[in-house]
Amino acid sequence: MPPTTMTQLIGQTPVMSIEVPNQAGHLVLKLEKNNPGGSMKDRMARRMVVAALQDGRLAPGGTIVESSSGNTAIGLALAALEFGLRFIAVVDHHAAPDKIRMMRALGAEIRYVEGNYAEDEVAVIERMRLAAQLGAQLPGAVFMNQLDNPANPEGYIGLAEELIDQLSDGIDAFVGCVGTGGSITGIAGRLKRHNPSVRTVGVEPAGSTLFGKAGHPYYQSGTGMPDGVKPARALDLGCIDQAVQVTDTEAFETARYLACHNGLLVGGSSGGAIYKALELIAAGKLSGTVVAMVADGGEKYLGTIFDDEWMAKRGLLDPAIAARLDGWLCGKSH
Ligand SMILES: Cc1ncc(COP(=O)(O)O)c(C=O)c1O
Repeated sequence: MPPTTMTQLIGQTPVMSIEVPNQAGHLVLKLEKNNPGGSMKDRMARRMVVAALQDGRLAPGGTIVESSSGNTAIGLALAALEFGLRFIAVVDHHAAPDKIRMMRALGAEIRYVEGNYAEDEVAVIERMRLAAQLGAQLPGAVFMNQLDNPANPEGYIGLAEELIDQLSDGIDAFVGCVGTGGSITGIAGRLKRHNPSVRTVGVEPAGSTLFGKAGHPYYQSGTGMPDGVKPARALDLGCIDQAVQVTDTEAFETARYLACHNGLLVGGSSGGAIYKALELIAAGKLSGTVVAMVADGGEKYLGTIFDDEWMAKRGLLDPAIAARLDGWLCGKSH
């Protein structure tokens, strides 16, 4: 029987190999952008809704409320349609405009937080406050709270199991971005149960404070955590063997490079994970099959990171990054 809801199309996403000449490691990308909402977050969003329906916190016809940088809200909009729920997404102006358009198209109600924030400033604390308030005030409403919801990491166990099946010769390392931490926690836990020697690398934007560094604004969307947000319960830092930071320029130039060299449109956070994976392979610090997560697709960022003018205005272009990628991927030296 063909599927009858879009949510039945979640998962079974493809993998794609990227050769790295003259190195002991090669890269495999897990293309989570191929989910119906265009990101890995479809998995955990549906899982959070099912868990809330199962334990009675949410009843049919109820309302779900969530604070989101975009992708979780798109996944929740799909789950709300499947289960006949009302969905209110609490967002800020840091979210990619195309993600907001997509949520609206899928029937979500959008609430922007109030206050003056710079365009590279994430208003997570105010988003969470407003979402919790709406969840408490509206009858039949539940605040999903992805930061502390155990269904967030649980939602990714199936993804790790797909990787184990797809890469039957084994996985040596996994590189993923860290925001709420749900994806790396769920995936690393399952991969390490299968093979305890899998090495995990967590990537956050330079300016994010998850790994104890000083905070400052950044443009990468959906990933990292700004100053002042308490550590999420969805994140188990113990599952990350190596914690690294990537700059907006490294992340975005990598996304742009993959688009025009490989025909692959990835989002900015995925560009960052791929850049760091390649850097570690080139330095001989990762070897064998290195999986990097493509959390979402570049289609959501055509007006920002794939727009030359937008990049130039913010001083985010740097041709040295493309030259470095050429060196790593084509064995060229500049
Ligand atoms: C594009 C993108 N990359 C990375 C992440 C971080 O994932 P996680 O919240 O599972 O740590 C997110 C989360 O929203 C995202 O949307």
